[in-house]
Amino acid sequence: MKTNLKQNVPHDSVFCLTENRILTDRVHLLRFTGDTSSIKAPGQFVSVELPGMFLRRPFSVCDWDSESFSVIIDRVGEGTALLHGLSCGVELPVLTGLGNGFQLESGAAAPVLVGGGTGLSPLVGLARRLRESGVYPRILLGFREAHDRFGADLFDGFDTQYASDLFEELEKMPHDYIYACGSEAMMMELLRRDGSDAQVAFDVRMGCGFGVCMGCARKTRDGMKRVCKDGPVFRKEELLWEN
Ligand SMILES: Cc1cc2nc3c(=O)[nH]c(=O)nc-3n(C[C@H](O)[C@H](O)[C@H](O)COP(=O)(O)OP(=O)(O)OC[C@H]3O[C@@H](n4cnc5c(N)ncnc54)[C@H](O)[C@@H]3O)c2cc1C
Ligand code: FES
Repeated sequence: MKTNLKQNVPHDSVFCLTENRILTDRVHLLRFTGDTSSIKAPGQFVSVELPGMFLRRPFSVCDWDSESFSVIIDRVGEGTALLHGLSCGVELPVLTGLGNGFQLESGAAAPVLVGGGTGLSPLVGLARRLRESGVYPRILLGFREAHDRFGADLFDGFDTQYASDLFEELEKMPHDYIYACGSEAMMMELLRRDGSDAQVAFDVRMGCGFGVCMGCARKTRDGMKRVCKDGPVFRKEELLWEN
């Protein structure tokens, strides 16, 4: 069985915050400018060092180009609150090129990109790159409450839909492949309910974030795999998702 996906070469350097955009009262989009050369595939993540905090905070790359990358940050605690409060011009050390990203060459003609909450973030860069390769995905964004919704405008030019019940909406949407990102529980439920092939990216609690502590390890058909190093993107066939 093939394991993941594009190989990563992490790189540590200083980035400058050049945009801090409010998307909702608890979600911001931040753009950092610097050396993005080690970001190779949508679905990879970065790890941001914050002043006075021991552990770096990991965030999926939303989108990137040769000069900058963006992240979408939900304020859940001390580190994310600090990030929301930063002004443009602040410089921070960031480890980039972490994890293995989505593989674009799935052979799918009608893929759907499914994001749960901030899980929509890596799908922005994925959608753009699929379009550049001639594939036009549909986008389904799941938010339990209508007032929490955000992000459809980030998928400019795509057929994008919000859903309170992702599974119900997905059943109505013709598709032959799924790319998804969200909570582990939601991803597993998606794989159980939908017959299509898929790649999913997990948001799980991490320790070291670079493959040493095994704190993020999950059982797969090929033994234990670390979400931070072997993922965060996994193919459906690798995962133990059946009941
Ligand atoms: C590979 C990866 C990609 C991620 N991508 C994004 C992203 O694109 N956008 C985003 O907003 N967040 C993302 N996260 C989660 C993000 O890293 C955490 O929310 C953040 O580190 C919390 O930092 P804090 O200091 O604000 O919270 P803390 O003070 O550390 O914790 C506050 C609360 O958040 C919970 N929490 C902390 N870390 C996580 C986590 N990894 N997953 C779920 N709950 C957590 C804690 O249980 C606690 O209840 C990602 C995590 C991983 C592992
Ligand atoms: S978080 Fe330490 S191995 Fe993944």
